[in-house]
Amino acid sequence: MAPDRVTTLPTARAAGLSYRKVTKRFGAVTAVDDVSFDVPEGQILGIIGRSGAGKSTLLRLTNRLADPSGGHIVFGGVDVGSLRGKGLLAWRARCAMIFQQFNLVPRLDVVSNVLHGTLNRRSTLATTFNLFPRADIYRAIDILERLGIADQAAKRAEDLSGGQQQRVAIARALMQDPAFILADEPIASLDPMNAQVVMDTLRRINEEDGRTVVCNLHTLDTARRYCDRVIGMCEGRVVFDGAPELLTTAQAREIYGADEDFSEHATSTSIEKLETPMLRTLRSAEAAV
Ligand SMILES: Nc1ncnc2c1ncn2[C@@H]1O[C@H](COP(=O)(O)OP(=O)(O)OP(=O)(O)O)[C@@H](O)[C@H]1O
Ligand SMILES: [Mg+2]
Repeated sequence: MAPDRVTTLPTARAAGLSYRKVTKRFGAVTAVDDVSFDVPEGQILGIIGRSGAGKSTLLRLTNRLADPSGGHIVFGGVDVGSLRGKGLLAWRARCAMIFQQFNLVPRLDVVSNVLHGTLNRRSTLATTFNLFPRADIYRAIDILERLGIADQAAKRAEDLSGGQQQRVAIARALMQDPAFILADEPIASLDPMNAQVVMDTLRRINEEDGRTVVCNLHTLDTARRYCDRVIGMCEGRVVFDGAPELLTTAQAREIYGADEDFSEHATSTSIEKLETPMLRTLRSAEAAV
């Protein structure tokens, strides 16, 4: 059944998100194929699948960077596809995106990058002259402090490590006070240590603020470790939807289109293994004294 064609969003920050028979075609390619599922508020949901499975397209449809060829995405009873103008801007502010490549302005300082999270509610004149209200500047610094990078506030974004830059991108997203964080492979460019810090940050935001996190991940071990629920996509379709502990090796094989030799290690980011060398170093240091 089609949702109401209401053009204003509910005022409550939290509400569930529903995908109803969502399809996206690019010519002969069906990137997202008849996808239906619900995301309850406050969930941390991992979407896994091999390259080309449709993960990014699904996130882009969600915040209306692209429109579906068929079906509906519904938030609090409103078909987000029906939103235009201010309603659409409000929707985009509700579902902040985080990308693999951070999408910061490299030569701009960290605080200004974070303040860019408020751009969609500021006048063109204020934006042109980079004029930010004092209250927003304090809030940006508070958020940076919360994410443990306030000491980097005056540096250029390009001078930070990958993990710090991704935390700046998360801080920019938080400036929008979003109901959802849509994260597209947020740790794919990071080493295991930084990957862990970024995923811990997303989980904190989920647990402490109750914000829903939808996170595309290449790797199974990260999904198992951080997500309440995993959706497995293959060729645009949902082939698994459930708690991570219910995902069997056979199902993982189907998601990744792999053969009998498939091993979860092939999709590992080594986050789990991070502790092992550290512990080993600690143990040998202890043995030496
Ligand atoms: N703008 C576009 N124009 C044409 N085809 C597209 C476009 N965007 C995505 N596709 C195609 O849709 C399919 C799904 O792409 P998508 O980027 O959603 O996959 P993905 O699961 O995010 O992959 P990856 O893990 O490599 O990021 C692919 O076959 C891709 O080539
Ligand atoms: Mg992608």
